[in-house]
Amino acid sequence: MSAENELSCVKVDIDDENIAWLSFNRPEKRNAMSPKLHYEMEEVVPQLETDPNVKVIVLTGEGVSWSAGMDLKEYFRETDDNPEARFKSYWSHRHWSQYLMLSSKPTIAMVNGFCFGGAFTPLAACDIAITAEEATFGLSEINWGILPGGNVSKVFSDLVSHRDAMYYAMTGRTFDGKKAVQMGIANVAVPADNLREETIVLARELMEKSPAVLAFTKQAIKAVRGMDMNMAYEYLSAKQGALRAADKEATRQKGMSEFLDKKSYRPGLGAVQRD
Ligand code: COA
Repeated sequence: MSAENELSCVKVDIDDENIAWLSFNRPEKRNAMSPKLHYEMEEVVPQLETDPNVKVIVLTGEGVSWSAGMDLKEYFRETDDNPEARFKSYWSHRHWSQYLMLSSKPTIAMVNGFCFGGAFTPLAACDIAITAEEATFGLSEINWGILPGGNVSKVFSDLVSHRDAMYYAMTGRTFDGKKAVQMGIANVAVPADNLREETIVLARELMEKSPAVLAFTKQAIKAVRGMDMNMAYEYLSAKQGALRAADKEATRQKGMSEFLDKKSYRPGLGAVQRD
């Protein structure tokens, strides 16, 4: 990672299992997202995307917070009279959130603590979210006088029911990790002490799959959300063909052979062994 030594708001650690631990690293500010944090993310996320050593990306936060959302001082107040600076950091946030959302690698949000306002955009951009039961979530914008922008209203409404979107956006009430799972914001809630361990279990499970099949599956699930039935049928047929050409491991042929000929495993119960 070329810029690793220069990073100050973001931390990257690629472990020997090929998991990239990407952390918001402003614990003293509860990992509020400043313009500098956005610029660093904008640089780092594409590097992780193209680094062959990275198989899974975990987005988490240093200290007691995942992220307290946009930095009210550095992102908002200090750029209120500087449209150029606001424009640059707004687009930087938008870029890196989209990079994350469009990543071909599995992405896991590991929510270790506070998750407020603008933090919902990168949270929703991750494929899977695992949270500490004790984490605190909230759309706090209403409390201090803005609407949930930068695309929080959109991503929150896409994740939860209309009733919950209205309720939490209008009241700013907080909720914990268990509630986040009930609402569809996170997949799993575990005690904070087990959070990292459970995340590693999940990452290992994802790494058992063919990376090409995973990437195409992610793209398919995301793409069909905006399609009608006929479009989805056509898209998925074409995508299936493209996957067969792209999967260098020929997982499909291997899976069929191991199940039908060798009778060595059950596709319903786990991934076919990779070479
Ligand atoms: N923007 C700027 N600074 C923030 C921040 C934010 N979103 N969230 C926390 N900080 C800063 C505080 O100003 C404080 O800085 P200081 O030490 O220089 O005074 C520091 O982080 C610690 O915050 P503090 O409020 O003392 O921590 P806490 O643990 O008691 O409370 C929160 C944590 C997250 C509940 C509280 O900081 C908070 O409400 N933050 C704002 C959350 C929010 O509304 N985000 C939405 C933005 S769209």
